[in-house]
Amino acid sequence: MPDSDPRDSPPKPNIAPEKTPEKTIVLVGLMGAGKSCIGRRLASGFGLSFIDADAEIEAAAGCAIEDIFERHGEAAFRDGERRVIARLLNQPVHVMATGGGAFMDAGTRALIKERATSLWLKADLDLLLKRTSRRNHRPLLKRGDPKEILARLIEERYPVYAEADIAIDSQDGPPEVTVARARAAIGAYLATPGAVAP
Ligand code: S3P
Repeated sequence: MPDSDPRDSPPKPNIAPEKTPEKTIVLVGLMGAGKSCIGRRLASGFGLSFIDADAEIEAAAGCAIEDIFERHGEAAFRDGERRVIARLLNQPVHVMATGGGAFMDAGTRALIKERATSLWLKADLDLLLKRTSRRNHRPLLKRGDPKEILARLIEERYPVYAEADIAIDSQDGPPEVTVARARAAIGAYLATPGAVAP
């Protein structure tokens, strides 16, 4: 006699089967949310390449982002950011991390909506502050008190980031936890009829 009746076994969790994305996954969120760290791991899990838009902007400009801000100003950086992301969105399916301001541009946002699946990595102020204080290379955070700046950016940007297709909490601790959450959320989103454009 079997130990237990199979009909007594607990229901399977309602997790969508994992699919390789058919569209590029674009990570959005504030500085320190973990977009590059999570993006790199997500890409490797999906067997896709990973592209860091900020690194591409630096490669195109031939200098670091802080130097672009210093020498040419923020508006020039935003122009370059818009152009580089538009070019990257033409590349084969990949995972892309964007700088925190990229999704705030209406044109970039529309292009991401059209060509990619967007994932917002949402993090609270304390975590962003903790992560961004490890290195002092972000020009926006040198303009005053980083805590006040990040708090203002949360107010300004979170309503816009909320337009992303998917949102998950980015947590402190091992990145694998957030990566697993991202994979589950992407799987569920892609399993939703209509989520992937023909
Ligand atoms: C910015 C975020 C930075 C970088 C630039 C501006 C922003 O990228 O693009 O310093 O406006 O939030 P990370 O979000 O990767 O730090």
